[in-house]
Amino acid sequence: MPTARSLMPSRLLAVLTAVLILKVTAAVVFEYRRYMRPDFQADFLLGREPYFWGGYHWAFYVHLASGPISLVLGTVLVSERFRQALPAWHRRLGRVQVAGVLLFLTPSGLWMAFYAATGAVAGTGLGTLAIATALCVALGWRNAVLRQFARHRRWMMRTFILLCSAVVIRLIGGLATVAEVDAAWIYPASAWASWVVPLAIFEVSQVYGKRSDRLATSSYSPS
Ligand code: HEM
Repeated sequence: MPTARSLMPSRLLAVLTAVLILKVTAAVVFEYRRYMRPDFQADFLLGREPYFWGGYHWAFYVHLASGPISLVLGTVLVSERFRQALPAWHRRLGRVQVAGVLLFLTPSGLWMAFYAATGAVAGTGLGTLAIATALCVALGWRNAVLRQFARHRRWMMRTFILLCSAVVIRLIGGLATVAEVDAAWIYPASAWASWVVPLAIFEVSQVYGKRSDRLATSSYSPS
């Protein structure tokens, strides 16, 4: 049975992660001042003027609205404390999250992936991310409806990890700038690494966690 003291480091890590996610999200939203009346000199919009008003703008603005909302909702929804304290709100916000990710975030992300600034490798990475996120959230929702709560938690944790790729990709970009690495492969590689690596770490931790649970149970012999 975990004690309050043994839970301290993981709580601290969870709080620090949430703070980092919210800080990066706030920085992303701060840039919106250059997107509201599109400034085609802004980094992200450079070279996009020829097709921007030809439909791309729909996906872009839907994505701009749904992205930060899904990230903030995800941070709240994975909190065990929040769910235990306000279970009705967990269910309400969970429905909003599922609808937002399936109807707005992933379709707009998939659309934008066809226009990925750095080409096909980045575009395929982001397109695959869109499909994987939609699948994970749909399976998380289905398992909640079926009251399979352990599975529900795992699928929603995967969804959250995939949403956090938006944070990870910006951290990689920031690190590359600080390290003065300006190679053309950085962005395409991070379009894949920002979600494949965290997801792989999660899957490995799940297998490792199950194995150590089994070992603990088999070596436990009540005297
Ligand atoms: C997990 C599903 C997501 C997918 C598939 C996705 C996909 C994309 C794609 C394809 C682009 C254009 C990239 C390019 O042309 O190089 C983009 C840009 C953008 N995404 Fe996402 N995204 C996702 C999640 C998020 C989240 C959670 C946020 C919240 C912060 C977000 C915020 C943005 C913003 C603000 C842009 C515009 C460019 C910028 O200022 O960086 N996205 N996304």
